[in-house]
Amino acid sequence: MIQRPLITSSKWSKKGMLNDIESIKNLARDEISNARRLQDIHNLKVKYLGKKGLLTAKLKSIGSIPGEERPMVGRILNESRNFIESLLRKQEDKFRSSELDKSLRTRQIDVTVPGCFIPTGHLHPITRVLDEISGIFISLGFTVEEGPEVELDYYNFEALNFPKDHPARDMQDTFFISDDVVLRTHTSSVQVRVMERNSPPLRVIATGKVYRCDADVSHIPMFHQLEGFMVDRHIRFSDLKGVLELFIHRVFGPDTSLRFRPSFFPFTEPSAEIDISCVICNGSGCNVCGGTGWIEILGAGMINPRVYEKAGYDPELYTGFAFGLGIERVAMLKYGIDDIRLFPENDKRFLEQF
Ligand code: DAH
Repeated sequence: MIQRPLITSSKWSKKGMLNDIESIKNLARDEISNARRLQDIHNLKVKYLGKKGLLTAKLKSIGSIPGEERPMVGRILNESRNFIESLLRKQEDKFRSSELDKSLRTRQIDVTVPGCFIPTGHLHPITRVLDEISGIFISLGFTVEEGPEVELDYYNFEALNFPKDHPARDMQDTFFISDDVVLRTHTSSVQVRVMERNSPPLRVIATGKVYRCDADVSHIPMFHQLEGFMVDRHIRFSDLKGVLELFIHRVFGPDTSLRFRPSFFPFTEPSAEIDISCVICNGSGCNVCGGTGWIEILGAGMINPRVYEKAGYDPELYTGFAFGLGIERVAMLKYGIDDIRLFPENDKRFLEQF
Protein backbone atom coordinates (compact mmCIF):
# COMPACT_ATOMS: atom_id res chain seq x y z
CA MET A 1 0.00 0.00 0.00
CA ILE A 2 1.32 3.46 -0.91
CA GLN A 3 1.20 5.83 1.99
CA ARG A 4 1.07 9.52 1.45
CA PRO A 5 3.27 11.68 3.68
CA LEU A 6 1.32 12.62 6.82
CA ILE A 7 2.83 16.04 7.31
CA THR A 8 2.76 17.79 3.96
CA SER A 9 4.27 21.13 4.85
CA SER A 10 5.25 23.14 7.88
CA LYS A 11 3.30 26.12 6.54
CA TRP A 12 -0.43 25.87 7.26
CA SER A 13 -2.71 25.16 4.36
CA LYS A 14 -6.31 24.03 4.63
CA LYS A 15 -5.89 21.53 1.84
CA GLY A 16 -2.70 20.16 3.38
CA MET A 17 -4.37 19.79 6.76
CA LEU A 18 -7.44 18.02 5.36
CA ASN A 19 -5.25 15.74 3.29
CA ASP A 20 -3.20 14.84 6.33
CA ILE A 21 -6.30 14.03 8.36
CA GLU A 22 -7.71 11.94 5.57
CA SER A 23 -4.44 10.02 5.25
CA ILE A 24 -4.32 9.36 9.00
CA LYS A 25 -7.88 8.03 8.92
CA ASN A 26 -7.19 5.74 6.00
CA LEU A 27 -4.00 4.43 7.47
CA ALA A 28 -5.71 3.82 10.80
CA ARG A 29 -8.58 1.98 9.16
CA ASP A 30 -6.21 -0.30 7.24
CA GLU A 31 -4.04 -1.01 10.23
CA ILE A 32 -6.99 -1.67 12.53
CA SER A 33 -8.58 -4.09 10.13
CA ASN A 34 -5.23 -5.90 9.78
CA ALA A 35 -4.81 -6.24 13.56
CA ARG A 36 -4.63 -9.84 14.76
CA ARG A 37 -4.49 -9.64 18.51
CA LEU A 38 -5.68 -7.49 21.42
CA GLN A 39 -2.14 -6.21 21.89
CA ASP A 40 -2.19 -4.81 18.30
CA ILE A 41 -5.32 -2.83 19.16
CA HIS A 42 -3.62 -1.41 22.21
CA ASN A 43 -0.56 -0.38 20.18
CA LEU A 44 -2.71 1.28 17.50
CA LYS A 45 -4.63 3.21 20.13
CA VAL A 46 -1.31 4.63 21.32
CA LYS A 47 -0.11 5.26 17.74
CA TYR A 48 -3.14 7.33 16.72
CA LEU A 49 -4.80 8.64 19.83
CA GLY A 50 -2.10 8.45 22.52
CA LYS A 51 -0.33 11.50 23.96
CA LYS A 52 2.12 11.59 21.06
CA GLY A 53 -0.29 9.99 18.62
CA LEU A 54 -0.65 11.06 14.96
CA LEU A 55 -4.15 12.47 15.30
CA THR A 56 -3.34 14.01 18.65
CA ALA A 57 -0.52 15.96 17.00
CA LYS A 58 -3.05 17.44 14.60
CA LEU A 59 -5.39 18.31 17.44
CA LYS A 60 -2.54 20.05 19.25
CA SER A 61 -1.69 22.14 16.17
CA ILE A 62 -5.16 23.66 16.02
CA GLY A 63 -3.99 26.71 17.94
CA SER A 64 -1.73 27.71 15.05
CA ILE A 65 -4.39 27.87 12.32
CA PRO A 66 -6.37 30.98 11.37
CA GLY A 67 -9.30 31.63 13.70
CA GLU A 68 -12.03 31.45 11.06
CA GLU A 69 -10.91 27.98 9.95
CA ARG A 70 -10.69 26.49 13.39
CA PRO A 71 -14.32 25.41 13.91
CA MET A 72 -14.37 23.51 10.64
CA VAL A 73 -11.00 21.83 11.17
CA GLY A 74 -11.89 21.13 14.81
CA ARG A 75 -15.10 19.41 13.79
CA ILE A 76 -13.32 17.25 11.20
CA LEU A 77 -10.65 16.31 13.74
CA ASN A 78 -13.29 15.30 16.30
CA GLU A 79 -15.16 13.24 13.77
CA SER A 80 -11.94 11.54 12.76
CA ARG A 81 -11.12 10.74 16.37
CA ASN A 82 -14.58 9.27 16.92
CA PHE A 83 -14.22 7.30 13.72
CA ILE A 84 -10.87 5.77 14.78
CA GLU A 85 -12.10 5.13 18.30
CA SER A 86 -15.16 3.26 17.11
CA LEU A 87 -13.08 1.10 14.74
CA LEU A 88 -10.72 0.27 17.61
CA ARG A 89 -13.61 -0.57 19.93
CA LYS A 90 -15.26 -2.86 17.39
CA GLN A 91 -12.05 -4.80 16.80
CA GLU A 92 -11.39 -4.99 20.52
CA ASP A 93 -14.88 -6.36 21.21
CA LYS A 94 -14.40 -8.92 18.49
CA PHE A 95 -11.12 -10.15 19.96
CA ARG A 96 -12.45 -10.20 23.49
CA SER A 97 -15.55 -12.20 22.63
CA SER A 98 -13.55 -14.71 20.63
CA GLU A 99 -11.15 -15.11 23.57
CA LEU A 100 -14.10 -15.66 25.88
CA ASP A 101 -15.57 -18.20 23.45
CA LYS A 102 -12.28 -20.02 23.35
CA SER A 103 -11.88 -20.12 27.12
CA LEU A 104 -15.51 -21.23 27.58
CA ARG A 105 -14.93 -24.02 25.11
CA THR A 106 -11.64 -25.20 26.59
CA ARG A 107 -12.16 -24.60 30.33
CA GLN A 108 -15.48 -26.21 31.00
CA ILE A 109 -16.74 -26.12 34.59
CA ASP A 110 -18.80 -29.00 35.90
CA VAL A 111 -21.23 -27.32 38.27
CA THR A 112 -22.47 -30.68 39.55
CA VAL A 113 -19.13 -31.60 41.20
CA PRO A 114 -19.58 -31.41 45.02
CA GLY A 115 -17.85 -28.43 46.69
CA CYS A 116 -14.68 -28.72 48.75
CA PHE A 117 -15.18 -28.87 52.50
CA ILE A 118 -13.02 -26.30 54.26
CA PRO A 119 -12.25 -27.60 57.74
CA THR A 120 -12.70 -25.05 60.50
CA GLY A 121 -11.22 -25.31 63.97
CA HIS A 122 -12.99 -24.82 67.27
CA LEU A 123 -12.20 -23.64 70.76
CA HIS A 124 -10.11 -25.78 73.07
CA PRO A 125 -12.27 -27.53 75.71
CA ILE A 126 -10.53 -25.54 78.46
CA THR A 127 -11.37 -22.26 76.73
CA ARG A 128 -14.96 -23.43 76.29
CA VAL A 129 -15.35 -24.27 79.98
CA LEU A 130 -13.60 -21.04 80.99
CA ASP A 131 -15.96 -19.01 78.79
CA GLU A 132 -19.03 -20.84 80.09
CA ILE A 133 -18.09 -20.39 83.74
CA SER A 134 -17.06 -16.75 83.29
CA GLY A 135 -20.39 -16.13 81.55
CA ILE A 136 -22.30 -17.33 84.61
CA PHE A 137 -20.50 -14.90 86.92
CA ILE A 138 -20.71 -12.06 84.40
CA SER A 139 -24.50 -12.61 84.34
CA LEU A 140 -24.45 -12.10 88.13
CA GLY A 141 -22.74 -8.73 87.71
CA PHE A 142 -19.13 -9.82 88.31
CA THR A 143 -16.45 -7.99 86.32
CA VAL A 144 -13.39 -9.70 84.87
CA GLU A 145 -9.90 -8.68 86.00
CA GLU A 146 -6.44 -9.95 85.09
CA GLY A 147 -3.12 -10.24 86.82
CA PRO A 148 0.38 -11.26 85.76
CA GLU A 149 1.49 -14.89 85.54
CA VAL A 150 5.00 -13.92 86.64
CA GLU A 151 4.02 -12.48 89.97
CA LEU A 152 5.60 -10.88 92.99
CA ASP A 153 5.88 -13.15 95.98
CA TYR A 154 4.05 -10.33 97.75
CA TYR A 155 0.76 -10.71 95.85
CA ASN A 156 0.93 -14.49 95.52
CA PHE A 157 1.72 -15.12 99.22
CA GLU A 158 2.59 -12.25 101.51
CA ALA A 159 -0.52 -10.08 100.97
CA LEU A 160 -2.68 -13.22 101.25
CA ASN A 161 -1.39 -13.82 104.74
CA PHE A 162 1.20 -16.45 103.86
CA PRO A 163 4.15 -15.10 105.87
CA LYS A 164 7.65 -15.99 104.65
CA ASP A 165 8.79 -19.40 105.92
CA HIS A 166 5.23 -20.18 107.01
CA PRO A 167 4.43 -23.88 106.54
CA ALA A 168 1.24 -22.96 104.64
CA ARG A 169 3.46 -22.10 101.66
CA ASP A 170 4.23 -25.79 101.32
CA MET A 171 0.59 -26.32 100.27
CA GLN A 172 1.65 -25.12 96.85
CA ASP A 173 4.83 -26.28 95.12
CA THR A 174 6.15 -23.04 93.75
CA PHE A 175 8.35 -22.24 90.76
CA PHE A 176 10.60 -19.43 91.95
CA ILE A 177 12.05 -16.93 89.45
CA SER A 178 13.98 -15.17 92.23
CA ASP A 179 13.53 -14.71 95.97
CA ASP A 180 10.76 -12.17 95.38
CA VAL A 181 9.29 -13.33 92.07
CA VAL A 182 7.32 -16.52 91.40
CA LEU A 183 5.15 -18.06 88.70
CA ARG A 184 1.78 -17.47 90.32
CA THR A 185 0.52 -20.62 92.02
CA HIS A 186 -3.10 -19.46 92.07
CA THR A 187 -5.32 -16.70 90.72
CA SER A 188 -5.94 -15.57 94.32
CA SER A 189 -2.91 -13.36 93.58
CA VAL A 190 -5.25 -10.99 91.74
CA GLN A 191 -7.29 -10.22 94.91
CA VAL A 192 -5.03 -7.63 96.53
CA ARG A 193 -3.99 -6.14 93.18
CA VAL A 194 -7.66 -5.38 92.44
CA MET A 195 -8.39 -4.17 95.97
CA GLU A 196 -5.46 -1.73 95.82
CA ARG A 197 -6.93 -0.12 92.71
CA ASN A 198 -10.63 -0.15 93.66
CA SER A 199 -12.82 0.46 96.67
CA PRO A 200 -15.77 -1.72 97.62
CA PRO A 201 -18.30 -2.79 96.56
CA LEU A 202 -16.39 -5.34 94.47
CA ARG A 203 -17.68 -8.29 92.49
CA VAL A 204 -14.74 -9.69 90.55
CA ILE A 205 -13.57 -12.82 88.79
CA ALA A 206 -10.01 -13.43 87.59
CA THR A 207 -9.14 -16.31 85.33
CA GLY A 208 -5.95 -17.61 83.81
CA LYS A 209 -2.94 -19.87 83.95
CA VAL A 210 -1.29 -20.88 87.20
CA TYR A 211 1.85 -22.94 87.78
CA ARG A 212 2.88 -25.62 90.25
CA CYS A 213 5.81 -27.97 90.31
CA ASP A 214 3.70 -31.12 90.10
CA ALA A 215 2.90 -33.78 87.47
CA ASP A 216 0.76 -36.97 87.42
CA VAL A 217 -2.65 -38.09 86.05
CA SER A 218 -4.43 -35.41 88.01
CA HIS A 219 -1.73 -32.69 88.11
CA ILE A 220 0.07 -30.72 85.40
CA PRO A 221 2.60 -27.93 86.01
CA MET A 222 0.49 -25.36 84.20
CA PHE A 223 -3.27 -25.31 84.59
CA HIS A 224 -6.15 -22.84 84.76
CA GLN A 225 -8.07 -21.38 87.66
CA LEU A 226 -10.96 -19.07 88.23
CA GLU A 227 -10.91 -16.87 91.30
CA GLY A 228 -13.97 -14.96 92.43
CA PHE A 229 -14.50 -12.53 95.25
CA MET A 230 -17.09 -10.13 96.51
CA VAL A 231 -16.48 -7.37 99.07
CA ASP A 232 -18.98 -4.92 100.52
CA ARG A 233 -20.62 -4.07 103.83
CA HIS A 234 -22.65 -6.91 105.30
CA ILE A 235 -21.58 -9.74 103.01
CA ARG A 236 -22.21 -13.03 104.80
CA PHE A 237 -21.30 -16.68 104.45
CA SER A 238 -24.85 -17.32 103.24
CA ASP A 239 -24.14 -15.02 100.25
CA LEU A 240 -21.19 -17.24 99.39
CA LYS A 241 -23.40 -20.30 99.62
CA GLY A 242 -26.07 -18.75 97.44
CA VAL A 243 -23.65 -17.69 94.72
CA LEU A 244 -21.84 -21.05 94.65
CA GLU A 245 -25.03 -23.07 94.65
CA LEU A 246 -26.39 -21.10 91.69
CA PHE A 247 -23.08 -21.49 89.88
CA ILE A 248 -22.83 -25.28 90.47
CA HIS A 249 -26.44 -25.81 89.41
CA ARG A 250 -25.84 -23.92 86.18
CA VAL A 251 -22.69 -25.91 85.34
CA PHE A 252 -23.66 -29.41 86.52
CA GLY A 253 -27.46 -29.27 86.60
CA PRO A 254 -30.04 -28.32 89.28
CA ASP A 255 -30.02 -31.74 90.96
CA THR A 256 -26.38 -31.50 92.03
CA SER A 257 -25.94 -31.29 95.83
CA LEU A 258 -23.27 -29.19 97.55
CA ARG A 259 -21.39 -30.00 100.75
CA PHE A 260 -19.31 -27.44 102.66
CA ARG A 261 -16.42 -28.95 104.68
CA PRO A 262 -14.37 -26.89 107.15
CA SER A 263 -10.86 -26.30 105.84
CA PHE A 264 -7.93 -23.92 106.07
CA PHE A 265 -6.55 -21.25 103.74
CA PRO A 266 -4.45 -18.39 105.13
CA PHE A 267 -6.46 -15.76 103.23
CA THR A 268 -9.94 -16.85 104.33
CA GLU A 269 -11.47 -17.26 107.76
CA PRO A 270 -13.51 -19.36 108.12
CA SER A 271 -12.48 -21.48 105.13
CA ALA A 272 -14.27 -24.34 103.43
CA GLU A 273 -13.78 -26.92 100.76
CA ILE A 274 -16.86 -27.55 98.69
CA ASP A 275 -17.80 -30.95 97.34
CA ILE A 276 -20.52 -31.71 94.83
CA SER A 277 -22.45 -34.95 94.54
CA CYS A 278 -20.62 -37.15 92.04
CA VAL A 279 -21.73 -36.21 88.54
CA ILE A 280 -20.91 -39.72 87.29
CA CYS A 281 -22.74 -41.94 89.84
CA ASN A 282 -25.13 -39.34 91.29
CA GLY A 283 -23.78 -39.96 94.79
CA SER A 284 -24.03 -43.73 94.97
CA GLY A 285 -20.25 -44.25 94.76
CA CYS A 286 -17.98 -45.02 91.78
CA ASN A 287 -14.28 -44.96 90.97
CA VAL A 288 -14.33 -41.27 89.96
CA CYS A 289 -15.49 -40.23 93.45
CA GLY A 290 -13.50 -42.99 95.16
CA GLY A 291 -16.72 -44.64 96.32
CA THR A 292 -17.66 -41.64 98.52
CA GLY A 293 -20.35 -40.15 96.26
CA TRP A 294 -18.70 -36.69 96.61
CA ILE A 295 -16.16 -34.78 94.51
CA GLU A 296 -14.13 -31.85 95.76
CA ILE A 297 -14.54 -28.91 93.41
CA LEU A 298 -13.83 -25.56 95.11
CA GLY A 299 -11.97 -23.78 97.87
CA ALA A 300 -13.69 -20.82 99.47
CA GLY A 301 -14.22 -18.77 102.58
CA MET A 302 -14.78 -15.36 104.11
CA ILE A 303 -11.84 -13.07 103.25
CA ASN A 304 -9.43 -12.84 106.18
CA PRO A 305 -9.32 -9.33 107.76
CA ARG A 306 -5.51 -9.48 107.39
CA VAL A 307 -5.97 -9.34 103.61
CA TYR A 308 -8.09 -6.17 103.93
CA GLU A 309 -5.32 -4.61 106.00
CA LYS A 310 -2.80 -5.29 103.22
CA ALA A 311 -5.20 -3.77 100.69
CA GLY A 312 -5.84 -0.70 102.84
CA TYR A 313 -9.50 -1.52 103.50
CA ASP A 314 -11.05 -1.07 106.94
CA PRO A 315 -11.67 -4.65 108.19
CA GLU A 316 -14.28 -3.30 110.60
CA LEU A 317 -16.30 -1.91 107.75
CA TYR A 318 -16.09 -4.53 105.05
CA THR A 319 -16.66 -8.24 104.76
CA GLY A 320 -16.60 -10.48 101.76
CA PHE A 321 -16.04 -13.93 100.37
CA ALA A 322 -13.63 -15.51 97.95
CA PHE A 323 -13.52 -18.79 96.09
CA GLY A 324 -11.23 -20.53 93.65
CA LEU A 325 -11.56 -23.49 91.35
CA GLY A 326 -9.56 -25.39 88.77
CA ILE A 327 -10.91 -25.24 85.23
CA GLU A 328 -9.34 -28.55 84.15
CA ARG A 329 -11.13 -30.27 87.02
CA VAL A 330 -14.50 -28.93 85.90
CA ALA A 331 -13.76 -29.90 82.28
CA MET A 332 -12.75 -33.44 83.33
CA LEU A 333 -16.01 -33.90 85.22
CA LYS A 334 -18.15 -32.34 82.50
CA TYR A 335 -16.63 -34.42 79.69
CA GLY A 336 -15.72 -37.57 81.63
CA ILE A 337 -11.94 -37.28 81.09
CA ASP A 338 -9.72 -39.28 83.44
CA ASP A 339 -6.25 -37.91 82.56
CA ILE A 340 -5.57 -34.18 82.95
CA ARG A 341 -2.46 -34.45 80.77
CA LEU A 342 -4.64 -34.77 77.66
CA PHE A 343 -5.49 -31.05 77.79
CA PRO A 344 -2.05 -29.55 77.10
CA GLU A 345 -0.99 -32.38 74.77
CA ASN A 346 -2.99 -30.98 71.83
CA ASP A 347 -3.51 -34.35 70.19
CA LYS A 348 -6.06 -33.60 67.46
CA ARG A 349 -7.78 -36.96 67.95
CA PHE A 350 -8.58 -35.85 71.50
CA LEU A 351 -9.50 -32.25 70.69
CA GLU A 352 -11.74 -33.13 67.76
CA GLN A 353 -14.20 -34.87 70.09
CA PHE A 354 -15.43 -31.61 71.59
N1 DAH B 1 -6.13 -20.37 95.90
C1 DAH B 1 -6.56 -21.66 96.36
C2 DAH B 1 -5.77 -22.76 95.67
O1 DAH B 1 -5.29 -22.53 94.61
C3 DAH B 1 -8.03 -21.87 96.08
C4 DAH B 1 -8.86 -21.01 96.94
C5 DAH B 1 -9.26 -21.44 98.17
C6 DAH B 1 -9.21 -19.75 96.50
C7 DAH B 1 -10.03 -20.68 98.99
C8 DAH B 1 -10.00 -18.94 97.31
C9 DAH B 1 -10.40 -19.42 98.56
O2 DAH B 1 -10.37 -17.72 96.97
O3 DAH B 1 -11.18 -18.61 99.34
O4 DAH B 1 -5.64 -23.81 96.19
